This record gives sequence, structure tokens and C-alpha cells, in this order.
Amino acid sequence: MSNYSIKSLEQYFRVYRRSVEKPKKFWGEIAENNFTWFQKWDKVIEFDMQKASFTWFRNAKLNITKNCIDRHLASNGDKNAIIFEPNNPGEAPRYYTYNQLYVEVSKMANLLREQGIEKGDRVCIYLPMIPELAFSMLACARIGAIHSVVFAGFSANALSTRINDSTCKMLITSDGGFRGSKTIDLKKIADEALDNSPTIKKVLVVNRTGQEVTMREGRDYWLQPLLDNASATSQAEVMDAEDPLFILYTSGSTGKPKGMLHTNAGYMVYTAYTFKNIFHYRSDDIYWCTADIGWITGHSYILYGPLLNGSTTVIFEGTPSYPSYSRFWEVIQKHKVSQFYTSPTAIRSLAKEKIEYVQGFTLDSLKVIGSVGEPINEEAWHWYNDHVGNKKCPLVDTWWQTETGGILISAIPFVTPTKPTYASLPFPGIKPVLMDDLRNEIKENQKSGNLCIEYPWPAIARTIWGDHQRYIDTYFTKFPGKYFTGDGALRDEVGYYRITGRVDDVIIVSGHNMGTAPIEDVINEHQFVAESAIVGYPHDIKGNALYGFVVLKETGLWRDRNNLIKEINQLITDQIGPIAKLDKIQFVTGLPKTRSGKIMRRILRIIAEGEESDFGDITTLVDPEIVEEIRREKV
Ligand code: PRX
Repeated sequence: MSNYSIKSLEQYFRVYRRSVEKPKKFWGEIAENNFTWFQKWDKVIEFDMQKASFTWFRNAKLNITKNCIDRHLASNGDKNAIIFEPNNPGEAPRYYTYNQLYVEVSKMANLLREQGIEKGDRVCIYLPMIPELAFSMLACARIGAIHSVVFAGFSANALSTRINDSTCKMLITSDGGFRGSKTIDLKKIADEALDNSPTIKKVLVVNRTGQEVTMREGRDYWLQPLLDNASATSQAEVMDAEDPLFILYTSGSTGKPKGMLHTNAGYMVYTAYTFKNIFHYRSDDIYWCTADIGWITGHSYILYGPLLNGSTTVIFEGTPSYPSYSRFWEVIQKHKVSQFYTSPTAIRSLAKEKIEYVQGFTLDSLKVIGSVGEPINEEAWHWYNDHVGNKKCPLVDTWWQTETGGILISAIPFVTPTKPTYASLPFPGIKPVLMDDLRNEIKENQKSGNLCIEYPWPAIARTIWGDHQRYIDTYFTKFPGKYFTGDGALRDEVGYYRITGRVDDVIIVSGHNMGTAPIEDVINEHQFVAESAIVGYPHDIKGNALYGFVVLKETGLWRDRNNLIKEINQLITDQIGPIAKLDKIQFVTGLPKTRSGKIMRRILRIIAEGEESDFGDITTLVDPEIVEEIRREKV
């Protein structure tokens, strides 16, 4: 179907117009012509924005793994589906053809069934970036179990919270994981988590590092021996379009993490269609996204999107700096990567190293380069464009969220002219609007506002697991009738969007969502801490870094400050993970609060950013004096 692949700007405008004027027809055709269904839908979409209720492809029946794997077997069975590039440079890459992927996923699916996992059960996956992570997710999808992947950098406490929230029955983990020069003791962390997670009845353990682990009898099983006995063919469960596919937790500005729920059909259609166009995927391409599968980017654009299009996707276990800052470029050269998708943080960290690390590698295979997760600043954009893309590869700055399932605003390579720091135009089917704080739509261009989306798209999250009211309150209430992204954006004179950052209490650090409240809760658990407030401040590499203002209890005042800082960061590492550690901690005697007790974070932000600017009206503060005191003692 011609609209599946957009080839010119003129076609984009035509397709876009059609997609927003006749969304049902548009999405119906995309879905009809490019996927395998057990049964077609009776209605393309039914929705109610106020209630955050979305039904896409009503009553259709499908299995996403039939589309990711089986569909390609006849024509492309011997094509590589996955190239696994291990962390340790001495270890050879592994290649899995679509035929092999079918066998691996079938065995795993059969094994899960044998172990008592049924349709609708939740399976938690806590694995490093190894092929078994992909096999496990696909195996769940094949039998209709709901996967909940938890990023392997999270702590025992974070893992346990997520397992408990969605009452997972099984955990799939590994003895350990390689990451740069380190090993991570995943099984040990999992054991600790499981002390507080009674719903897990079985643990399957991948042997990755060979390190010693404790196996609890009757609960823990090595994966491989079980797989050896499993059958290599499998039936795919017949899933309803709206049956859940996975839960993925994302940090909120308040309270516990939000388990965003994605369902089968809409997610499939949208991730496949966006992947095809935004990465300009063509049949012999080797595609590489460096994200971790533990985040939405990995779900949609390492696993599902690429496999749905029958592409070859690279799974990289390592880091950009190991064994040297050339690792990315070496891998691109070695596997002749055609599309490379990474984060601004990775680019900034590599751009600060000697240029020789990138020069000397043949990056000629590249066609398209991409960026995701946070705003890409002008300097990083140019470095990436000049030294990696060699000024010939379109750089797609892709804006989206865990909640959106797939990319909503991005250039389409060789179609949309790119503009540094601008995500550019909405993808077909997406209707962005900018709203002012008084809920009026900003119609003029060259203005900034709160970024909302007016009409649902197939991959929009359906709910927050177990808390639909929170889903409504967080995304559909502030601007009634619209999905509120939590981001601010600027629209330029031709209608290109530039994402300016979060407008709520979420801070994007190295591309990771950090809610301030969950971190503050952890800090406040410290025996000497009375209260705390966290804000972000600009950081050369990470985009934003975390600055904590901490008020001590009487008993804490005479403690050694350096020790306290270490203890607070250790507490954060233990409870959430090292990614949430604070870069700066300032002990203060009080926080700037309004009479109603609300912390005026705006003031703390100005201080943390080191700006000399005026604080504006601070007369509503209980104690305006505190502001200057905090500024004077800034660290
Ligand atoms: O603030 C936006 C930022 O990342 C947030 C979503 O984070 P998460 O759910 O973890 O998903 C990240 C990967 C899709 C957004 O609300 N963000 C994401 N992409 C961009 C971005 N900010 C600016 N430009 C982007 N391209």
C-alpha cells in the first residue's frame, strides 16, 4: 500500500491531511494492508478523551509475534532478525535468523506455558541487554502473558515495587550482567527484591556471567536446561486487539511509578508504521538503536517496530565507552549499520572526547541517524550531524514518551527538511496543539505553550495499571478533551515543533524520566532529614542534573555533611538505583514555601541554575528571607 512508505514532502502533506480528516479510513487501510490478522475489526476506533477510554480495531484478533516472526519466515527465514553485540570485545557477536528466532521464541513460549503461565498473567523481566531479553518478551506476547520489563539498573526495592504493583507471577532474570568493565549482580538484587515480592512463584535464571548465585529450591530454575527440553514449534495465542501486551513503568511527578499499559493491535500498527518511515527502513538495512530494552525506546524501536518490518536489529549489551570511546563507531563499521538511533547524552559524552575516537572508522554504511529521550542541543546536533552522519544522513530528532508507545513528532528522512533542535512535524495521525496556562489554544506560530495532542493515535497507553483514575487525572484533566504530554513546546513560523522540556516536576536526566517526589520520599527516609526538594539544573553531558535542597532535623545538624551526602546518595541508590543519585546537595534551614505549604520550586530552580535573575513575586512566601539565605549558600 503506497501510504505505508512516505517518499516525498508532497506525499507527506497529502497523507497527513487524510490521516487527520479521515482517521478511521486512514488507520483502517494501514492496518488492513500491512499486517496479518486472525480476524478483522468491526470498528477502527471508539474513544472518549474525558474518560481516557480508547478502543482501536475493535474485536480484531491477532498475535503480534505472528507479525514479528512467522509472517517473515517464508520469504525471509534466513535473514538475520537479531545481531547480538556483546559487551566484552573478546566475545563474538551472535546472529539469529528469523527461522532461529522462531525456534527460540517458541521454546520459551512453550516453557512459560509448562511453568503455568497463562494468558493475562504478568511476567516480570529483569535482564541485561542479551538476546534472551527479546526472546522472553516475544514469548510472553506469543502466549498472551503481559510482560513487565524492569531496567536492569534499578535497585531491589524498585524491582520489588514494580513486581508487586502488577502482581507478577514469574521473574526472568540472569546470574549477572556485563556492563563496561563491571558486572552487575542481578540475581542477588532479584533475591533481595523477592524477599518482599510474594507473588513471584517461579524464577527463571539465564546463565550470562557464570558468577556464583544462590538458587532457591522449588522457586529458581536455570533457563537453559528447561529450554533444551522444550518443543521448537508453538501456537500463537489468539489475542483480542485490546488485550494487554505489556506494562512498562515510568516515573511520575508524584507517588509510585506508573505502570503504563499498552495493548496489542494499536501498538503493533503504530510502532511498525512509524519505524518504517522515521528510520527509512529498506530491506537490506541493519538497524541499531542503542537504548536499553528496559525503556520504551527499546520496546518499540529495538524489538517490536524493527521485527514487525522484518528488519535486522542490533542488540548491544555494552556502553559507549567500553573498551574505548570508539565502541559505537566500531560496531557501526563492523555490522555495516544503516540506521543509528541514540540519545543526546551519549552524543554529548562522546563529543567531549578526542575526535580521533570517531575518525578512522568507516561510517559510510549509515543512511539515517536519530536522537531520542531529551532535547538535543545545537552543539550536540552539529557534532552528530558532521562527524557521525557526515553531513549526508538526515538526523531525525524523535519526540515521544512511554505513554505514547511510538514516535509522535519527527522528521521523515529524505522527506522533511531537518532543522537543528526541532523535532519538526507531527507524524500522520497526530494532532499536536499548544495550550496556554488558561487552557486557551495558542493558534499563532512562533509561540510556546503546553504541548497537548488532540486526537488519539493507535499506540496511546490505555491506562495506568490498577489506577485508571490516576491516568485520567495525570493526562486528560488539565486540558479537557486533550492528552496533555507534560512537555512544553515552541512552534516556529512554518509549524515545526521544538520541545522545550518538561513543564511538571519530572526532570529528564540523561534521557531518563526522574520524578522529583519519589526521590524526595527516599531522601526523607534518612533519619536526620526533615524534608527535601529536588530540582534540575543544566548539565553539559546529562542535559539536566539533580540538585537537592535538604532540611535537616535538629539531631542532624551537627553531623558530618560529607558523610550525610554519601549516605543520602547511597539511600537513593539502594531504593531506586544509581541513575537517580543527586549531583549536588545543599543543606538549608528551610524551603521557600507558600502559606498553603507548597514549595515554590521555581525559586529553587533559579538558584540551582545559578541565574542572577530576579525571583519575581515572593510575597506569598511564609519566610521570604530564606530565599537569599539559600542563594548565598549555593553549592
Ligand atoms: O520530556 C520529553 C523527553 O522525554 C520524555 C518522555 O520520557 P520517556 O517516557 O522516558 O520516553 C523517552 C523515550 C521516548 C518526554 O516527555 N523527550 C523524549 N524525546 C524527546 C524529548 N525531549 C525533547 N526532544 C525529544 N526528541
